[in-house]
Amino acid sequence: MEIELLSGALGAEIKGVDLKDTSSENIEKIKNLLFEHKVIFFRNQDINQKEQVNLSKCLGPLETHAYVKGLSKFPEIVRIIKDPFEQNAWGEGWHSDVSYNKEPTMFVVLKSVEIPPIGGDTMFSNMELAYETLDKKLKIKIEGKKAIHDSRGSEFFTEDYNSMKSNGNFDLYRNEHPIIRTNPDSGKKALYVNTMYTREIVGLDRKESDSILNELYKHQERLDLTCRFKWTKNAVAIWDNRSVIHYAIADFYPKRGLGHKRVMDRIAIRGEQPF
Ligand code: SIN
Repeated sequence: MEIELLSGALGAEIKGVDLKDTSSENIEKIKNLLFEHKVIFFRNQDINQKEQVNLSKCLGPLETHAYVKGLSKFPEIVRIIKDPFEQNAWGEGWHSDVSYNKEPTMFVVLKSVEIPPIGGDTMFSNMELAYETLDKKLKIKIEGKKAIHDSRGSEFFTEDYNSMKSNGNFDLYRNEHPIIRTNPDSGKKALYVNTMYTREIVGLDRKESDSILNELYKHQERLDLTCRFKWTKNAVAIWDNRSVIHYAIADFYPKRGLGHKRVMDRIAIRGEQPF
């Protein structure tokens, strides 16, 4: 096995591991790599959808997306299709997946199906490192505080998308989570807010809440906390959604001067209530 670090902050590309192998030794190895590097990448993994589901099930119980219809044969797979004339960009903005849920996703297994010839990279930022490097005064201000996360409604995920279809659920989800959460697997504290879904800090007036959240957002997006992955076909990323935020760069659309397609298959593994 070879491990190539993507940056000084997080992320590793792993060579010599076969994702079709769901033996307990291989799954243990993958989990250990995941906890160490927060996000791990594997190229040239010609796994089919059933094999992606099997691999994901070995990491924990699967969840279906709150709003997006999964594939008919594999409802746990959300096919993220960005076609050349798409006006919206799924995942463009820093976020932790479904942080608006009471028990947000633990891990994500994302496989590339069709990749644009240029662009479409994904960036990740290490929220354990974000917590460690946070200004002391700011740490004191957020100690013990919770923030409200909001799902923005079904239309945010499906309306005006050419190919992303609603599953018919129009409920709105709003949940409070600690701003500093502990990842039980790494034992480390992580900063748990994101620009996409976090709305306000509980118990503060709007002005103070906005001011603190803006400082936290600025900090968590610092480039020295991040890594960037350039996709190739049949690559798989697995991330610990409790300790990273990510950003899908949509620089391949007509409105940005290009017009390419990007297709990914996403499976989410159920998480615990943040504490
Ligand atoms: C996501 O934001 O959930 C997907 C990331 C990607 O498509 O790169």
